Amino acid sequence: MQRIGVLTSGGDSPGMNAAIRAVVRKAIYHGVEVIGIKHGYTGFIEAEMAPMNLGSVADIIHRGGTILQTARSEEFKAPQGRARASQNVKRFRLQGLVIIGGDGSFRGGLQFYREYKIPVVCVPGTIDNDIPGTDCSIGFDTAVNNVVDAINKIRDTATSHERTFIIEVMGRESGYIALAAGLAGGAETIVIPELSANVEEICDKLCRGYKRGKLHSIIIVAEGAASGLEMGRQIKEKTGFDTKVTILGHLQRGGTPTAYDRILASRLGAEAVELLISGETCKMVGMVSGKIVAENLEEILSGKKEIDMDIYNLAAILSI
Ligand code: F6P
Repeated sequence: MQRIGVLTSGGDSPGMNAAIRAVVRKAIYHGVEVIGIKHGYTGFIEAEMAPMNLGSVADIIHRGGTILQTARSEEFKAPQGRARASQNVKRFRLQGLVIIGGDGSFRGGLQFYREYKIPVVCVPGTIDNDIPGTDCSIGFDTAVNNVVDAINKIRDTATSHERTFIIEVMGRESGYIALAAGLAGGAETIVIPELSANVEEICDKLCRGYKRGKLHSIIIVAEGAASGLEMGRQIKEKTGFDTKVTILGHLQRGGTPTAYDRILASRLGAEAVELLISGETCKMVGMVSGKIVAENLEEILSGKKEIDMDIYNLAAILSI
């Protein structure tokens, strides 16, 4: 193998830069050239591609976002878009592709392999942590820490004013951020898309807490489960409590990656290169119980990462 391409696709996640750095430096270590592809599949189609060297990835391990930038490409979902990208495989003489992103990006890579036979290895990079086959995806730990940091700050003002706070966090289809941040932040209630929530029950719990002297309450709502604003309105109406809503939005996705995310990204990026060099394709690298593993991409894409009910139940018990 002489040359591979690397791209980041979908929503950015903190630690993607550490993964790019690992791909580039591990490939160069093995004498393999790397072409960086900008703006995900959009740049692949438009030939926004250039060689990377050791210096291209200097001073990025601590930076959030992705130096290659990213996009959600509609064009790559169509056969014509992929056909244009295949021209660039030839033009840039690529013999393998590392795709850093979420499941939508992986689906594109698998389809591209099926049509054009360029080996692909995927690296899970999404704050949502909704990809099976790995304990964590790159960026999740940083996002959870961002949310916990926000909860700590909101808790100060919530206590001072004796208020109920709804904090809406990211996760259109996945409650992982809400669950982890809710447990770590000591939230009274966690509302996630995977489990139905009942506003009456949430209000009853708030009232029980109030009666035994709780001065404030924090409720974490994943954006895919309910609208934080609407839930805040209903709770205020039903309980009469002074209720405020904070929507954390994209600040969850930014900032310097935690050490955990940098280590995870470095290990996964390096392993992706090893797999391509050893002739593998259609794999996703992951970390399971501290060990780096290679999973079958097709199986990953047909599976679903279930929510950890032990964590959900524990958070409920501890916040009683
Ligand atoms: O990257 C995943 C994610 O952050 C989801 O949690 C969120 O719902 C979505 O992306 C937001 O996407 P966009 O940045 O395109 O609004």
